[in-house]
Amino acid sequence: MSAVEGKRVLSGMRPTGALHLGNYHGALRNWVELQYQYECYFFVADWHALTTAYEDTSPIPQAIHEVVVDWLAAGLNPGVATLFVQSHVPEHAELHLLLSMITPLGWLERVPSFKDQQEQLRDKDLATYGFLGYPLLQSADILLYRPAFVPVGEDQVAHVEVTRELARRFNHLFGREPDFEQKAERAIKELGGRNITLYRQLRRRFQEAGDAAALERARALVESNTRVTVADRERLLGYLEGSSVTILPEPQPLLTVSPRVPGLDGRKMSKSYGNTIAMREDPDSAVRKLRTMQTDPARARRTDPGDPDKCPVFELHRIYSDSATQQWAAEGCRTAGIGCLDCKRPLIERIVEEIGGMRKRAQEFQDNPEVVANLLAEGGEKARETAHATLDEVRRAMHLRPQ
Ligand code: TRP
Ligand code: SF4
Repeated sequence: MSAVEGKRVLSGMRPTGALHLGNYHGALRNWVELQYQYECYFFVADWHALTTAYEDTSPIPQAIHEVVVDWLAAGLNPGVATLFVQSHVPEHAELHLLLSMITPLGWLERVPSFKDQQEQLRDKDLATYGFLGYPLLQSADILLYRPAFVPVGEDQVAHVEVTRELARRFNHLFGREPDFEQKAERAIKELGGRNITLYRQLRRRFQEAGDAAALERARALVESNTRVTVADRERLLGYLEGSSVTILPEPQPLLTVSPRVPGLDGRKMSKSYGNTIAMREDPDSAVRKLRTMQTDPARARRTDPGDPDKCPVFELHRIYSDSATQQWAAEGCRTAGIGCLDCKRPLIERIVEEIGGMRKRAQEFQDNPEVVANLLAEGGEKARETAHATLDEVRRAMHLRPQ
């Protein structure tokens, strides 16, 4: 097993086209680190794009390409992480359909983004079945890969919560098997040696005292055991908590601790605000944008002192500059010792350097789009294998013919 404890991580992004520095510092940088710690699956959620915009689908292929080039430019390594496109793996659609049968409408209507987005995106038709079912599609995306962790931003935590509820409901409905207890007891013996006693002790501590740490330890004990079969592992995991097999384990959201990246106008950097600097922005354009970026409005004149805490440029310093530079900027600002352009200079240098690195890494993929297409095809194959294994068990549990 290549990655730590063999745990899996899965996350996805919509094909929004070229990514910006907010996407990079908000999510991507974190993915790049995770790929060396876990077995990672990262995908472009192209079907998700259809849930909020179905009229014109023609820009989607190019948008997928741009996103993936940005992933590669940021340092995602297709030799380490599995990178793929959702629609290349039709298993997502089948699991979505099967889960839809057991999903109460209220669960979907209660997801905060359902009402919020309908209010915010008034110019779009969001009165569709697809839009209502979008958190369910996301649940299928996740559960197919049985990840331990799903790195997401704050706005997506509610979706992972729905995913967990669905997994629980599915296991409860379809994880029942005749003679479950006998089979589970037999599986315990397969753990071997002192793990048998340890499993029993931890299980009792959880069931009798609700000891969550004991449950965690017992799970780790089962998951790290290479002697038991997959079916027995699921029984043992399920037996810890109740009387059904865990077919779809519950994933945990992995809240990315990342800075808020301010956009050029001081609001959060976001494509919909038109205040972004692209990860592969033309350097001259980046310099121009940064030179005119919003500062503390109190510094109308060069001689007016400012407050770094009220300045979006200083927020960028916090991300990009070392502490000596931050101190220099803060003090110069408060005493009007430096002008805003002086303050921006080291920042501009760092950002242009960062963008330059990304542009350089992206070049070979821009020149050879077939390299990107090929690595996505390969990633899709690998993802399908994993997805297929889960789906096979789902079908079996539901008495649908496994293929
Ligand atoms: N809904 C996510 C977003 O809008 C994208 C997404 C789709 C996703 N499927 C996922 C994220 C599965 C994590 C896991 O950003
Ligand atoms: Fe912002 Fe720097 Fe200008 Fe102060 S000196 S207002 S921190 S840009």
